[in-house]
Amino acid sequence: MTVSSTASSQPLLVLDHVSKSFRQGRHQVLHAVRDVSLTVHAGEIVALVGESGSGKTTLGRIALGLLKPDQGRVSFDGHDFSALAPEQFRALRTGMQPIFQDPTASLNPRRTVRELLLQALWKTPDAGAARCVRLLEDVGLRPALQYLDRYPHELSGGQRQRVSIARSLAMEPRLIIADEPLSGADVSIRGQILNLMLDIQRSRNVAYLMITHDISIARAFADRVAVMMQGELVEVGPSQQVLRQPSHAYTKRLVAAVPALG
Ligand SMILES: Nc1ncnc2c1ncn2[C@@H]1O[C@H](COP(=O)(O)OP(=O)(O)O)[C@@H](O)[C@H]1O
Ligand SMILES: [Mg+2]
Repeated sequence: MTVSSTASSQPLLVLDHVSKSFRQGRHQVLHAVRDVSLTVHAGEIVALVGESGSGKTTLGRIALGLLKPDQGRVSFDGHDFSALAPEQFRALRTGMQPIFQDPTASLNPRRTVRELLLQALWKTPDAGAARCVRLLEDVGLRPALQYLDRYPHELSGGQRQRVSIARSLAMEPRLIIADEPLSGADVSIRGQILNLMLDIQRSRNVAYLMITHDISIARAFADRVAVMMQGELVEVGPSQQVLRQPSHAYTKRLVAAVPALG
């Protein structure tokens, strides 16, 4: 990993020797994340891959400040989470937004698209109307007026995921942490959602921490790939290098399991 001294190349997100354990029953402790260090730079796409249970979601939740690590530090835009007062953290956190796997679960079913977006914008209907339209157009829901007053259940799965992406863009984040954003979507629309996420990255220069068990998504998408196994980061590097010449046996196995890559 390159470390430069210029301020502009200071990483946006820094996970520094982060660990997190969970108690399982009375005597057992599960080390979900062990001593992981990882950075994401502005505009960069980092894929976090690994089998189910390897600790990816836990690491993503730590990066978002939803979970406190037992050890280690997290910082965003140079600010150490643990040094911030709650209101400072909330302000900082607007620059970092999640996209979850299942938009049905993350969108309140009793709110219309307009209400969901206004809530994310922290705006009143009058002040936020134009922004709602722009956001929907930005995620390919056009004409926006056709979607504003619908409820989530009146949308297709792909449209719901687009709404949840629009919502995460509302605060103009610099980093999006997407946890398996495609696995809830129909196979036929995964490509479209992936392309939308790439368009957003290019037009807004957002960075992604893209959590996925699907290594072919990492190849299509990522600048760098980080590989987790049983809570540990076993390999990280440019995606071409990690996926073409994996150095860790576990990564080799993951790559070999995808016919098009192996
Ligand atoms: N809140 C929790 N309480 C107890 N165990 C948890 C909790 N969250 C995750 N785990 C465990 O931590 C391990 C890593 O889980 P997770 O981060 O969800 O992995 P992944 O996203 O790679 O599938 C798993 O064994 C999981 O069961
Ligand atoms: Mg997960």
